[in-house]
Amino acid sequence: MMRRAVVKGVGHYLPERVVPNAEFEKTLDTSDEWIKARSGIERRHFAAEGETTSDLASKAAKAALAMAGMEGDDIDAIILATSTPDLTFPSAATMVQHAIGNTKGFAFDVQAVCAGFVYALSNANALIVSGQAEKVLVIGAETFSRIMDWTDRGTCVLFGDGAGALILQAEDGKGDNTDRGVLSTDLNSDGRYKDLLYVDGGVSTQNTGMLRMEGKEIFRHAVEKLAQTADTALQKVGLGADDVDWVVPHQANIRIIQSTAKKLGVGMERVVVTVQDHGNTSAASIPLALSVGVANGQIKQGDLVVTEAIGGGLAWGAVVIRW
Ligand code: UT7
Repeated sequence: MMRRAVVKGVGHYLPERVVPNAEFEKTLDTSDEWIKARSGIERRHFAAEGETTSDLASKAAKAALAMAGMEGDDIDAIILATSTPDLTFPSAATMVQHAIGNTKGFAFDVQAVCAGFVYALSNANALIVSGQAEKVLVIGAETFSRIMDWTDRGTCVLFGDGAGALILQAEDGKGDNTDRGVLSTDLNSDGRYKDLLYVDGGVSTQNTGMLRMEGKEIFRHAVEKLAQTADTALQKVGLGADDVDWVVPHQANIRIIQSTAKKLGVGMERVVVTVQDHGNTSAASIPLALSVGVANGQIKQGDLVVTEAIGGGLAWGAVVIRW
């Protein structure tokens, strides 16, 4: 017997405003064709003025609670992955806690940029497996539109806003790879690569800052490291590419998604792709894709799902879940 963190609900929220690629043609030397061809992105959502990360996160959380048939106060722990919190403190997670009417649990943010959701999921699993929590709400939510340099065509056309949420609950499994729930996790980071992707400001440097990225270099690291971490996570539980029903990758660039799937040995018919509609929503991209994948009937109970992500840090990782 082994305690497992089993998925009970999933949900997402996207801000109302949809921005097609063509919008950027008005202010930048770019084109719909270039953005589509080089990234696979066709549109993205941007939060309204005054709409914050915790607003998006709370709506995604409520959708996940509804699917799980739970009330806000049923939750023992809330982990919110974000690099764009409403305030320096308190955590955006405590704002979500209040919004869903939870007073009995504990809430905190996790910051691992685009890898934030796999970090949060791994921590949620650890809380459940160690007996510290029974029901955990895990959220990825971002408003990257707030940290864009609108004069930099190499970055501002790539990112979007949104939120996705997952509810995990403790259940007893047999302890083998046929169990439902989180089966394995693999987390990595390497601070030597800070300059490839960062925000050039923050609390301690006294300005908000804007996102800076060496896109080509990130691309190179991404394919290599994503395939490796997904493979490692699968190997930890005696599984391989042939066992995978769905890869749910971080949605940064369709070319990264395709190259990683090829390296892993998984055909694109087994990959959930949302990058065309959401752009890169950083920590929100995986829970958004999980929620869309479930809603459109791709991901079903019992399926073996592998999530993988990489971003600023560099920080990267993968989680294997039997849905
Ligand atoms: O979330 C995790 C972190 N992020 C990522 O995973 C993103 C990783 N990187 C990428 O997705 C890609 O590198 C980009 C989409 C950012 C760029 O694609 P690329 O194929 O690596 O293009 P490039 O950077 O080599 O740029 C090719 C050309 C350049 O012009 P020159 O120097 O060849 O004359 C750029 O200046 O395209 C130019 N360019 C653009 N042209 C039109 C860059 N951005 C744009 C643009 N519109 N928006």
